[in-house]
Amino acid sequence: MNHFQRRNGELCAEEISLERLARAYGTPLYVYSSATLRRHWKVLDRSLTGLRHLVCYAAKANANLAVLDLLARLGAGFDIVSGGELYRVLQAGGAPRKVVYSGVGKTDEEIAFALSQGVKCLNVESGPELGRISVVARRLGVRAPISLRVNPDVDPRTHPYIATGLKTSKFGVSVEDARRLYTVAAGDPAIDVRGVACHIGSQITTVVPFLDAIARVRALVRDLGRSGVRLRHIDIGGGLGIQYSDENPPHPDEYGAAVKRAMKGWSGEVILEPGRVLVGNAGVLLTRVLFLKRSGRKRFAVVDAGMNDLVRPSLYDAHHDIELVGGEARPEGTIDVVGPVCESSDFLARGRRMAVPEAGDLLCVRSAGAYGFSMSSSYNARPRAAEVLVDGDVARLVRKRETWPDLVRGERARPAGRRFPAPRRIG
Ligand code: LLP
Repeated sequence: MNHFQRRNGELCAEEISLERLARAYGTPLYVYSSATLRRHWKVLDRSLTGLRHLVCYAAKANANLAVLDLLARLGAGFDIVSGGELYRVLQAGGAPRKVVYSGVGKTDEEIAFALSQGVKCLNVESGPELGRISVVARRLGVRAPISLRVNPDVDPRTHPYIATGLKTSKFGVSVEDARRLYTVAAGDPAIDVRGVACHIGSQITTVVPFLDAIARVRALVRDLGRSGVRLRHIDIGGGLGIQYSDENPPHPDEYGAAVKRAMKGWSGEVILEPGRVLVGNAGVLLTRVLFLKRSGRKRFAVVDAGMNDLVRPSLYDAHHDIELVGGEARPEGTIDVVGPVCESSDFLARGRRMAVPEAGDLLCVRSAGAYGFSMSSSYNARPRAAEVLVDGDVARLVRKRETWPDLVRGERARPAGRRFPAPRRIG
């Protein structure tokens, strides 16, 4: 359920016509719905009633300050994967004690930043990383709260680029390695062992892989308990899928019920790291049709949003529904919706059966709230889009459209040079 619905034939974000938003703020434009964000939060959180839990929203899905602020006010914690994401969370007023820090490549600087801010937990993804955390914690004179991210080796049956819990993936450590590393961690005075974490992938559309992963993690937790390593939390990651077209992902109620069943008998805390399910269908991308074009047999609608604005179709062959915002009658046809970027992979839809728009029509690309803006770039020197957050009949510009001067900020064509002496040959 989302709040992008038609009113008198015209597609709206809550109470505001998308056409009016496009006129006011220009295109391409990301539009988010507060009511949808709140609703998605409530449905997921409610589904976990009875379980001692903390929902740590995966900021990477959409890290706009206004989105983080809205979720923080609802009580969300955050799952972050970089110092920059922690900075964003803090800027938005998020509480560090509700932050878990995942990621395979944390730098010393990022580890120090997280420890000095007092994050809840660092999810450790390798032995060498554990070593670095210990060194940095000692230097700062603190104990580092950690979980090991284990790789339960289950197949999430999703796009290979977003499967993360397989044996062959770069993420996490195997269950066997985890046993050894927990002993190392438990014996290190600079390390405070808090829990265990796993995340098996994204856009998962059945509960089975989640249950398999939880079962394997719980078996490990039991073994650790027997050998004297007691954990306070189990972090089951994110990954719950959403409907982009004809997928049929479990409703959060079904997911929550399954998690509760799988966690029976566990008296500690359960942490979740959902991203897409909270924000995916709470956002759309608006784009204006520039031209209609034919090439041989193919028909193209050339629009003003490109793969730099929304890379998911190019990168994962992902499907996003696209519809006309106005109620115009347009004949059906099969077209490619393509952007202005100089790459053949620059498309929002290929061979799509849809109402064929005319130049000047406004298109709404659905389900763009997750991994839309956050993966956007300024490739082809295209300023990044603006972002608007709607609440009822009020719209707020939560990110200004980038300008051409923004594109060259920090660059200089002829800066003063700095000479580095040639290395001396030794011996
Ligand atoms: N926790 C960890 C450790 C993660 O790596 C991820 C996502 C999440 C939580 C949140 O997963 P979610 O609930 O959003 O599925 N760019 C891709 C998705 C990449 C997901 C990466 N990790 C896409 O556009 O489909």
